[in-house]
Amino acid sequence: MKRIKLPTHVAFIMDGNGRWARRRFRPRAFGHRAGVQNMIKVCSHAFKLGVRIVTVYALSSENLSRPKEELDELFDLFRSYFGKKRDRLTELEVKVNVLGDISVLPEDIQESVLEVVQETSGYTDGLMNICLNYGARGEIVRAVNAAVACGRFVDETSFKDLLSTAGLPDPDLIIRTGGEVRLSNFLLYQAAYSELYFSKKMWPEFSKRDLERAIENYSARDRRFGNVKGE
Ligand code: FPP
Repeated sequence: MKRIKLPTHVAFIMDGNGRWARRRFRPRAFGHRAGVQNMIKVCSHAFKLGVRIVTVYALSSENLSRPKEELDELFDLFRSYFGKKRDRLTELEVKVNVLGDISVLPEDIQESVLEVVQETSGYTDGLMNICLNYGARGEIVRAVNAAVACGRFVDETSFKDLLSTAGLPDPDLIIRTGGEVRLSNFLLYQAAYSELYFSKKMWPEFSKRDLERAIENYSARDRRFGNVKGE
C-alpha cells in the first residue's frame, strides 16, 4: 500500500451477507458464516496496517426483528465465535469490547461474550468494538436519560462520555458494503465528521485489498471539520 495517512478508528457496516448467499443459491446463514470469517480477516488486516480501533456492526437493534430462524443462526454464530472458536478473536491480540445491550441475548451468549471481553482486557495495542443489539438512537436516548437522572446539563464533550464509545475517538472512516448508501442507525452521534465509504461489494467478498483501497481513498480526502484549512 502507498504511504498514506491512516485512520485511527475504522467502523464497518458489514452488509450483504444474505444477498451474497442467495446469489449462490445458498441459505442466508451461509452468508453470515462467510461474513464472520471475513470480519476476522479484514479486521486483522486493518490492525496489521496500523489501525488502532475497529468497530463492527454485527447485530443492530432492528435486526432483532428478523425471522426467528435467521436470528437463531446468528446466535449460533455468536455462540461459536465467543465460545469454542473464540481463539479466532483472541488471536487478534486486541482488546474486545461490546457496544449495545446484550441483556436480551441468550444467557450463555452473554456469558461467553463477557468472558472474551475479560480474556482480552489486557491487550493495549488495538481495540475491537463488536456492536450487538446496538442502535444509535437508543444509545442517544439512554445518554439523555442518564444526564437527566443526574440532573445535569451536558455539553458536546461531556455528552460523549455518556455514550457506549465513551473515551474513544470518533470513527475517522465508516465503510459500508452491500451497495446501500445509508448509516442505518449506526454511530449517529459519533459519525458527525466521519468520512463515509460505500462499496458495492457484498461483505463476504470485501477483501484486504478493498480495505486498502478504502483507506487510500480516505487518505486523499481533505478533512476540514467545518473549517477552511486541511488538517
Ligand atoms: C447484514 O447483512 C449483516 C448482518 C445482519 C449480520 C452481520 C454479522 C456478521 C458478519 C457476523 C458477526 C459475528 C460475530 C461473532 C461478531 P444482511 O444479511 O442484512 O445482508 P442482505 O442485505 O444482503 O440481506
